[in-house]
Amino acid sequence: MSTYVISGVARGIGFEFVRQLSANPANTVFGLVRDKGAADKKYQAEGLSRKNIHILQADVTDYDALKATSEYVSGVTGGKLDYIIANHGAVSDLSAFDNLSNLAKDPVSLEQDLMESIKINVLGTISMFNLFMPLVLKGNGKKAIAISTGMADVDLVAKYDVQVSPTYAISKAALNMAVAKLSAVLREQGILLMTISPGFVDTGNYNRSLTPEQQKSVEGMVKGFARYAPHFKGAITPEESVRLTLSVLERSSIEAGDAGSWVSHYGNKQWL
Ligand SMILES: NC(=O)c1ccc[n+]([C@@H]2O[C@H](COP(=O)([O-])OP(=O)(O)OC[C@H]3O[C@@H](n4cnc5c(N)ncnc54)[C@H](OP(=O)(O)O)[C@@H]3O)[C@@H](O)[C@H]2O)c1
Repeated sequence: MSTYVISGVARGIGFEFVRQLSANPANTVFGLVRDKGAADKKYQAEGLSRKNIHILQADVTDYDALKATSEYVSGVTGGKLDYIIANHGAVSDLSAFDNLSNLAKDPVSLEQDLMESIKINVLGTISMFNLFMPLVLKGNGKKAIAISTGMADVDLVAKYDVQVSPTYAISKAALNMAVAKLSAVLREQGILLMTISPGFVDTGNYNRSLTPEQQKSVEGMVKGFARYAPHFKGAITPEESVRLTLSVLERSSIEAGDAGSWVSHYGNKQWL
C-alpha cells in the first residue's frame, strides 16, 4: 500500500497519474487541483469515482491553501506520505509558440510571463515539497519527483534551435536546479528527490488554432525533434508517458546515484 500526493490532476498527465495509481485499491491518491468543483465533475464523467482518490483544492502559488492540503493528508494518513509527484506546470499562451527575441520587444509582458512561470513551476514546487516533506520523512516510499521537460536541456535547444516556449523552458531549467538543491539537503535524510521529463505527450495542448507564424514555430520544433531523434514519430499518449515515468520513479534510488538528477521517461537523457 502506498500513498501519493500529485498536483495538476484535473487533466492531462496528472489525471493519468491518478487513474493508473488509483487502479490499485491498496493505494491512496491525493490529487491537487485549482477548481475542485470542475475536477469532481470530470472524474465522475470519466468514471473515476474511486474511494481511494481524494481531490483537494489548492493553487500551488497559494501557500496557505497548500498547507491546508498537507494538513488534510496528514489527518487521513496519520502523518505519513510515501510519494510526492509535483506534476503541475504552466506554459502561457503569450509565450508558448513565440521566441525570446520577439517577446523581449515588450519587456513588461515578458517580465510578467517569466515571473508567473517561475512562481508556478519553481516556487510552487518548492512550497509543495517543503510542506509535504515532514510526512514523506515518516513514510515508507521516501521519494519526491517534479515533472520537468527536455525543453530545459541547454544542449538540445542550442543544437536544434528550439525557439518556442522560452519562459517555460527557463523556469523548468530553474526547477531542475531547485530540486537538485533540495536534494542536497534531503539526501542525507534518505529522501530521493529528482526531476523527470515525461516525453512529448499528447494532452491536447497543441490542438488549438495557431497563427501562421506560431504554426511555423511548432513545425520548426517538430523538425528539430526529428533531427534529434530520427525514431520520433510524434507525441506519445498520457498512458504510455505515465507508465514509463512511474517505472523510472520505482527503479530510481539514492544508492544508484539518482538523487538530485534530471532524467527522461526512459531514465536517461534521451528526451524523445
Ligand atoms: N505534455 C507534454 O508534452 C509535456 C512535455 C514535457 C513536460 N510536461 C510537463 O508535464 C506536466 C503535465 O503536463 P500536461 O501536458 O498534463 O499539462 P496540462 O494539460 O497543461 O496540465 C497542467 C496542469 O497543471 C495545473 N496547474 C497549472 N498552474 C497551476 C497552479 N498555479 N497551481 C496548481 N496547478 C496548476 C493545471 O491546472 P488547471 O487544470 O486548473 O489548469 C493542469 O491541471 C507539466 O509540468 C508539464 O510542464 C508536459
